[in-house]
Amino acid sequence: MKKIAVFTSGGDSPGMNACLRAVVRTAIYKGLEVYGIHRGYAGMIDGEIKRMYSHSVSNIVQRGGTILKSARSEEFRTKEGRQKAYDNLKKLGIDGLVAIGGDGTFTGAKLFFEEFGIPTVGCPGTIDNDIYGTDYTIGFDTAVNTALEAIDKIRDTAAAHDRIFFIEVMGRDAGFIAVESGIGGGAEFVMVPETKTDLDGLVKAMKNLRKSKTSSVIVVAEGDDEGNAETIMKKVKEKIKDDNKEFKVTTLGHIQRGGNPTARDRVLASRCGMAAVEGLLAGEQNCMAGVTNQQVVFTPFGDCIGKQKPIIPDHLRLINILNI
Ligand code: F6P
Repeated sequence: MKKIAVFTSGGDSPGMNACLRAVVRTAIYKGLEVYGIHRGYAGMIDGEIKRMYSHSVSNIVQRGGTILKSARSEEFRTKEGRQKAYDNLKKLGIDGLVAIGGDGTFTGAKLFFEEFGIPTVGCPGTIDNDIYGTDYTIGFDTAVNTALEAIDKIRDTAAAHDRIFFIEVMGRDAGFIAVESGIGGGAEFVMVPETKTDLDGLVKAMKNLRKSKTSSVIVVAEGDDEGNAETIMKKVKEKIKDDNKEFKVTTLGHIQRGGNPTARDRVLASRCGMAAVEGLLAGEQNCMAGVTNQQVVFTPFGDCIGKQKPIIPDHLRLINILNI
């Protein structure tokens, strides 16, 4: 292997730049030529591929977003699109790829590898933490801390006005951000897609809680089975039937995707980036470099996207026990 290319794809996450830096510098350290593909699969199709050097990744370890930019490409879903992408890589003699992204990125990478056989190793870059094969994904810790900061602030005003706040956090179909920001923020309730939400049970528990508390913070994962925070708030309000109680909704949205990565995310990103390059050189392909129990582990893309990563059961118990 002489030339590799790296790209970031799907929703950006804090730490993608740190990962990119690790990929580029490890590749150079190992004597490889390294190229950066701009705008993920879209740029691969359009030939937006540039040589990268050590200085190309200077001063980015601390920056959110991704200097290579990211995109979600419809064209890459077509065989013609993927063929164009392959032709562009072939022209440059690229013989290895590092894909930094989440499940959509790995779905594309798996298909591309199966069709064209360019060895590819992924790094788990998504705030959602919904990738099997790594304890945490790059960006998750930062997103949780961003959500936590917001929850702390909302709690101040919730308490001042005796209000009930429903705070919606991101996570797509997973509840990891909700659970960890909920535990950290002392949320009274947390609703996640992984467990069936029981609104009657929630209302009953809220009524009980009101004997001891005058305000509450309820964290709702955006993918909850009962709907988003606004919908759930309306349903709960209807069931509680208490005109003296004020209900508010805050949707945190894309602030969870930005910001300087935490130390945890920078270290994880750097480890995964280095491991991806070393893995490629050692013959790893069609798999992701993640970190499980402190160790680098390579997991086939098929498992990363096909197996569900469960929420830690103790985390759910914690919320129930600590909210009394
Ligand atoms: O996958 C990351 C994520 O931020 C999810 O949490 C969220 O559902 C989605 O991306 C939002 O996507 P977009 O930025 O395209 O609106």
